[in-house]
Amino acid sequence: MNTFLVGLLTLCILATFVTCDPHAAPHKSIYNRKTKLVEKAAGTPRGECPNDQYTGSGMVTSPNFPSNYGNGDSCAYFLTAPDGYVIQIQFLTFTTEACCDFLYIYDGPSPIISPLLVRLAGSNLAKTVYSSSTRWMSMQFTSDQTNNMQGFQANFSSVDTANPCNRDVVIAIDGHSTLGTEANYHKQIAFAANTLVTNWTVGSTGIQVGPVLYFTDESEEFNLDDAQSVTDLQNIFNGFRQHPIAGQDLDSMEVAFSLVTGVVDTDFPFKQGWRTGIQRVLVMFLSFPPNDDADLQAAKVHTDKIISQGAIIVLVGLNSNVNITQMIPLSSGPNYVLGVNDVSQLNAAFAMSISSALCQLPASTP
Ligand SMILES: *[C@@H]1O[C@H](CO)[C@@H](O)[C@H](O)[C@H]1NC(C)=O
Ligand SMILES: *[C@@H]1O[C@H](CO)[C@@H](O)[C@H](O)[C@H]1NC(C)=O
Ligand SMILES: *[C@@H]1O[C@H](CO)[C@@H](O)[C@H](O)[C@H]1NC(C)=O
Repeated sequence: MNTFLVGLLTLCILATFVTCDPHAAPHKSIYNRKTKLVEKAAGTPRGECPNDQYTGSGMVTSPNFPSNYGNGDSCAYFLTAPDGYVIQIQFLTFTTEACCDFLYIYDGPSPIISPLLVRLAGSNLAKTVYSSSTRWMSMQFTSDQTNNMQGFQANFSSVDTANPCNRDVVIAIDGHSTLGTEANYHKQIAFAANTLVTNWTVGSTGIQVGPVLYFTDESEEFNLDDAQSVTDLQNIFNGFRQHPIAGQDLDSMEVAFSLVTGVVDTDFPFKQGWRTGIQRVLVMFLSFPPNDDADLQAAKVHTDKIISQGAIIVLVGLNSNVNITQMIPLSSGPNYVLGVNDVSQLNAAFAMSISSALCQLPASTP
């Protein structure tokens, strides 16, 4: 590693006409330059390294592809998926000298420090899909001084491997006395902990969940990165059981929605763990109607705000206090409001409806 970094640094210093500013236009990289400089000096027929930085999805090839790669090639490739996604790569064609020309694929951002996923050489490779475990994959192609072949062409994509989808989700548990009984409150929590999230891929490369308990004019909040597993999440939800709903009377729908949307509001980033480029979703359980139409409209000001910031709002009515039709304007649309007449009706099928609601992107999203 040291030798390599020193080499790069020396190259930067020697080649003062070359910018080593990492923010420079992403055309030719240090790696290409190194190749070219050595090529000039040694006069060997090296291949021209393709670009080394790749994001999202696309195609990577060996040097000179579809012509043969050169002798003594050394090219690096850095593939980056959006936060929370992983890189998957699949070879459409692969032919190298089996003994001596290798493509190394690393599970991580650097061919120097990341673990080796696979070393490929030869031909007739199965159409295996190689997958990184984080958002980064890197590769290094090297050829020796004889026998060059066509090399490889591969397509890669950024894949959402999370179940039900890759999202940053706030789940707001209702702690108001409008649930009726403590038993009803506990049924809500049991549903969240033991049915809704049991299948989810919880963690930084999956679906992140920040639980919130809201009641009267207070809330109890957890960060999005507090739970790294389903068990962590279940423990957080079960911790909410200690709160009694007796005496937690609704102030107004406006206060309740203000508390909960404030957690998602990008103007008040007091909750931590939001990932860049990941859809924010609020799943709000509720058991109360607005006090009057003015209260409903006041609550809508809060929901409109976070929707305009790009968040999705899914509302889950827990009893017949909640009029689904009336709540649609406070959500991301008719497909984003669900409800049961009684908390005893919360079941696995209903959980799957919530999961699909939170995974669908609103039509207005570009
Ligand atoms: C590569 O492209 C093929 C054909 O379009 C597609 O079916 C496959 O899913 C792609 N693989 C990856 C890893 O992007
Ligand atoms: C539910 O809300 C809609 C829209 O505000 C209203 O038309 C309807 O009468 C309400 N239903 C009940 C049962 O209150
Ligand atoms: C969990 O996943 C299994 C297998 O995909 C499915 O059959 C089951 O219905 C899911 N349960 C919930 C609550 O999503």
